[in-house]
Amino acid sequence: MHHYPTFINLKDKVCVVIGGGLVAERKVKALLKAEANVVVVAPEITERLQTLTQKHIAYEAREYAETDLAGAFLVIAATDNKDINRQVGEYADSQNMLVNVVDNPDLCNFIVPSIVDRSPVRIAVSTGGASPVLARQLRMKLETMVPASCGELAAITEEYRNKVKARFATGNERKTFWESALKGPFAELVYAGQVQDARRHLDKLLESGSGKSEMGEVYLVGAGPGDPDLLTFKAVRLMQQADVMVYDRLVSKTILDMANRQAERIYVGKEKANHAVPQDRINDLLVELAKQGKRVLRLKGGDPFIFGRGGEEIETLAEEGVPFQVVPAVTAASGCSSYAGIPLTHRDYAQSVCFATGHLKDGTINLNWEHLTQENQTVVFYMGLTGIKVISQELQEHGMSPDMPAALIEQGTTRNQRVHIGTLATLPELVETSGVRAPTLTIIGNVVKLHDKLHWYEPERHVAASEFSKNDPK
Ligand SMILES: C[S@@+](CC[C@H](N)C(=O)[O-])C[C@H]1O[C@@H](n2cnc3c(N)ncnc32)[C@H](O)[C@@H]1O
Repeated sequence: MHHYPTFINLKDKVCVVIGGGLVAERKVKALLKAEANVVVVAPEITERLQTLTQKHIAYEAREYAETDLAGAFLVIAATDNKDINRQVGEYADSQNMLVNVVDNPDLCNFIVPSIVDRSPVRIAVSTGGASPVLARQLRMKLETMVPASCGELAAITEEYRNKVKARFATGNERKTFWESALKGPFAELVYAGQVQDARRHLDKLLESGSGKSEMGEVYLVGAGPGDPDLLTFKAVRLMQQADVMVYDRLVSKTILDMANRQAERIYVGKEKANHAVPQDRINDLLVELAKQGKRVLRLKGGDPFIFGRGGEEIETLAEEGVPFQVVPAVTAASGCSSYAGIPLTHRDYAQSVCFATGHLKDGTINLNWEHLTQENQTVVFYMGLTGIKVISQELQEHGMSPDMPAALIEQGTTRNQRVHIGTLATLPELVETSGVRAPTLTIIGNVVKLHDKLHWYEPERHVAASEFSKNDPK
C-alpha cells in the first residue's frame, strides 16, 4: 500500500485540468466544490464547461503544452489521447506536482477515491487503484447507511464546540460528552429534521453536564410485509442502534435477525384472542423502557399506521412526554399486490382502492358495504381469513358479482409466498381447500385478472415453516 489517506485543502490553489470532455467536466465540478482555482486546457470543451468559463474557471482553447502547468498545485490529465495524458503525467510528476491521470494508475501520484458526500462529512473509499468498481459498490453501500442529514449534525456539533470547551475543562470530558450526546436523541432529532428541538436538547445536556439523556426514545418502525430488501434505510439504521426491541408476530424472522444482536428482545405477540401482552401493557412498557433512558425499537409488521395500532402506542408516548419517531413502511397491500403481479389500480379495471379490515367482532364485520361494492374499485382485506364467509356474503348481497375475481396472498413477499386465485363466491371454499394460513391478504376486484399475465415472483419455497414467529391473527 503506497497511498497515504488524506484530504487536501484546495481552496484558491491552482488546479489544471487537461481535457474538455465529460470526464474532465466531472473533475472540474469536484475541484470547484473544493473552491480550487481551476484552469482548463483543451481545444474543445463541453457545453457545461463553456458555461462555467463565464464565471468560475479559466479556459485555454488549445492543445496542451508543458508551460500550461507552470505554478500548478494539482494536475489532472483527462483527455482521450493516451500520449498526451502520459506527457502530462510524467512532466507534472517530475515537477513534484500532485498529478492524476484518468484510468492510468501507474502515472498517478495520487488517486481519487469514491466519495460519500454529506458535507462537511465526507467518507472516501479507495481500493488503492485495484478496483474502482468495487470502490464504487462499497460507496453505494455506505450511501444507504449514512443518514442524509449527517452533514447538518456535524455542522451543529461544530457550532457548539466552544460552548462545550467552556463547559468541560479536559479533552477527555469533552470526548465523553460528545460520545453520549451523539448516541442519544440529539442526533436522531437532527436526522428527523427537528433541528430546533435538537438544539434545545443539546443545551439541556450541556446544562446538566452529562451527554447522557435521562430520557430515552422510542422508534416506531414498520418492518414491511416480510422481504428484508423492502425495509427503508432509516428502519435498518434504527434497528441496528436500539438497546431494546419490542416486536410482534408479523415481523419476519429474517428481519429480526438484522436488528442489533446485543439488544434485549421482548416479544409481545398478538395472536387472535391470545395477545401475549395486552395493548395497554405494550403502551406502558414502551414508556417505562424509554424512561429508563433506553433507545426502544418498537418493530411492527407492514406499516405501523395501517391496521397496526401504531397510533395508540404513540398517543401514550406523547402524553408521557417521551420522544418518538415513526418510520413508515411498505404495507401488506402494496407488498403483496406487487409480488403477486396484481396492480391495485389500473386504467381499465380500477380507479380507486380501498383497504378494509376483515377482523370479526362478535361474529360480524362492521363495514360500509355500499362503499366497498362500488364499481371499478379494488378492495383489499387485511385479517380477512376468519371472516371470509361474511365478507363474501355481504359483498354479494350488496350487489357485487359472485364472479368477481379474488386472490388470497399468503406470506406475501417472502420465500413462502403463495397466491390462490378464485372468485368472490368461491372464496370461502378456496380458504378451506387450499390450506391457506395467516398472514394472508385478500384482494377482490377485476385487477386480479392481471395476475395470470403479470405474475413474476416465483420463489422456491425454502422452508415448510412460516417466515413469521407463530400464526398470525386471522
Ligand atoms: C394486524 S394487520 C397488520 C397490517 C400491517 N400493519 C401492514 O401495514 O401491512 C395484519 C394483517 O396484515 C396482512 N399481512 C401482513 N403481512 C402480510 C404478508 N406478508 N402476507 C400477507 N398478508 C399480510 C394479513 O392480512 C394480516 O392478517
